[in-house]
Amino acid sequence: MTKIFETAFAGLTLPNPVIIASSGLTDTVNKNKELEKAGAGAIILKSLFEEQITGKQDNDVDDYLHLIQGTKEQCSIPVIASVFCSRSDYWIDFAHQIEVAGADAIEINVFALNTDLSQAPDSLENAYIHIIQKLKEVVNIPVIIKLGKYFSHILHLVDRLHAAGVAGVVLFNRFYQTDIDINKLQMTSGNVFSSSSEVNDTLRWIGIINGRLPEASIAAATGVHDWEDIVKCILMGASAVQICSTLYQNGNEIIAAMKRSLEEWMVGMNFHSIEAFKGKLNYALIEDPSLYERQQFLRYFSNRD
Ligand SMILES: Cc1cc2nc3c(=O)[nH]c(=O)nc-3n(C[C@H](O)[C@H](O)[C@H](O)COP(=O)(O)O)c2cc1C
Repeated sequence: MTKIFETAFAGLTLPNPVIIASSGLTDTVNKNKELEKAGAGAIILKSLFEEQITGKQDNDVDDYLHLIQGTKEQCSIPVIASVFCSRSDYWIDFAHQIEVAGADAIEINVFALNTDLSQAPDSLENAYIHIIQKLKEVVNIPVIIKLGKYFSHILHLVDRLHAAGVAGVVLFNRFYQTDIDINKLQMTSGNVFSSSSEVNDTLRWIGIINGRLPEASIAAATGVHDWEDIVKCILMGASAVQICSTLYQNGNEIIAAMKRSLEEWMVGMNFHSIEAFKGKLNYALIEDPSLYERQQFLRYFSNRD
């Protein structure tokens, strides 16, 4: 494999920037072996849920440790374990076993909604910081956090997470989508898969965070569906991208196709490494991104009938 794709994310060296996101695509050793063969740059294993750890369901926990060990035996790309947790820190001692099993890093996906009026607006952010600090006491492998996009000041949060020792942030997690069946008068699940247009928020925030906090290591997630999205995410400042929906929809072959087009584009643009174009279009050069975007918005709408 050519080295032009090599990239560093969260202290890990990846042979290429295409990371397989945590999902049912990465829940067996065989699937992971096939993903490496298909050209993946790293794998985030299917998440173990906090409830599976604290519920003392030994099978789940043992199966997960075997998934880590087996995947590490079969794959040479970085293998990242994933824990899907809420605000609590009861599960954190288990992270040590994840490290012992051989995971190259741990990604945590914190899912908690602020639905209690008595909770202060920053209580969720404080819980994130607390979880990271606790995790850092338990493991030496890099700790990655996958963030949702609904925070009032994501930049500030990423800065705090970085100070607490986070090695990489994933922007963004795509939460379970709420929908309603109006005939059954029941809550249902919205689209399980993202659409291509969802990459726009991902791009904006990567551009802002890379511009303001160049030391933060970022992987893009949500809405990365084709090779052009990879180029855009890296231009905004991502070191790598995570893909999920497009793999479910197009199969593992999409990885090689994306890499082929990415390489063609890089060669055509005379970029001989990922580093050569990473962050080239981030928001560092724009004094106030919100002012810039307001002006664009005004121009766009004042020109429409
Ligand atoms: C079927 C399915 C299962 C998923 N399971 C997990 C999971 O276990 N843990 C997790 O952190 N994210 C999970 N995700 C979210 C994905 O990792 C990813 O962040 C999300 O789909 C957005 O990326 P995409 O736009 O490339 O699909 C899942 C997504 C799908 C579609």
